[in-house]
Amino acid sequence: MTRRPYIVGNWKMHGTRAMLSEARAIDRAAQRHMKVEVAIAPPYTLIHAIHREAEQIAVGAQDCHQADGGAHTGDVSAAMIADAGAKFVILGHSERRQMHGESDALVRAKAESALAAGLRIIMCCGESAETRESGKAVAFVKRQLKASLPPADAMPADVAERLTIAYEPIWAIGTGTAATTDDIAEMHGVIRALLVDLFGPEQGAEVRILYGGSVKPDNAAAIFAVPDVGGALVGGASLTADSFMGIALAASEPFEN
Ligand code: PGA
Repeated sequence: MTRRPYIVGNWKMHGTRAMLSEARAIDRAAQRHMKVEVAIAPPYTLIHAIHREAEQIAVGAQDCHQADGGAHTGDVSAAMIADAGAKFVILGHSERRQMHGESDALVRAKAESALAAGLRIIMCCGESAETRESGKAVAFVKRQLKASLPPADAMPADVAERLTIAYEPIWAIGTGTAATTDDIAEMHGVIRALLVDLFGPEQGAEVRILYGGSVKPDNAAAIFAVPDVGGALVGGASLTADSFMGIALAASEPFEN
């Protein structure tokens, strides 16, 4: 691949200010791995503090509301997270889709709002165990992604800069069992073809497709060797600088996708 590998930590609902030292350690280590783009998405409460201190890594959010503002108690808009220093937002994560009932249409509205606020987006997709067992994983992911992404004419011209996809099979998230490299290769190939179809051969070929779901330092190199894997979205293993940067190190080795 021509673009730098992208390694993003999704801290989920983990992290108080005590975690700032870990973010500092990640930032320092990232300065030694300039061939890799490293970023973290902490809880909202830590975005500004990490943004102020970080010299190398970008900080992002794990969600945003689709409206610009208004009577939405407890919600945070894309413009607000951008104001706090976020450069990107993760959208459509399966935990949001499952626990908060987020539909494809809602995820798409959030994506449009985030892009309008100048943020980059990481659009998540992925099938459940039942869908995979029924042999419908490919059809499901294609449909989910198509319905969750803004249409091509609503995307900024620099699609490949603003959009990243994360393929995260639900059954691999937090389970310790990552998808096999064959399954990852198949799905990333399908997603690549869809991106080329939607955004044209140039932009569609450049959009990075991250794999997520039980990525650890010891399986990262094998996953990064799979064609069309442009990096990883990492949950549990992003919570310590040691394990997270172990993954970044695997991505800084020869990485030809
Ligand atoms: P995990 O989570 O690395 O802990 O499996 C990945 C994710 O949900 O983004």
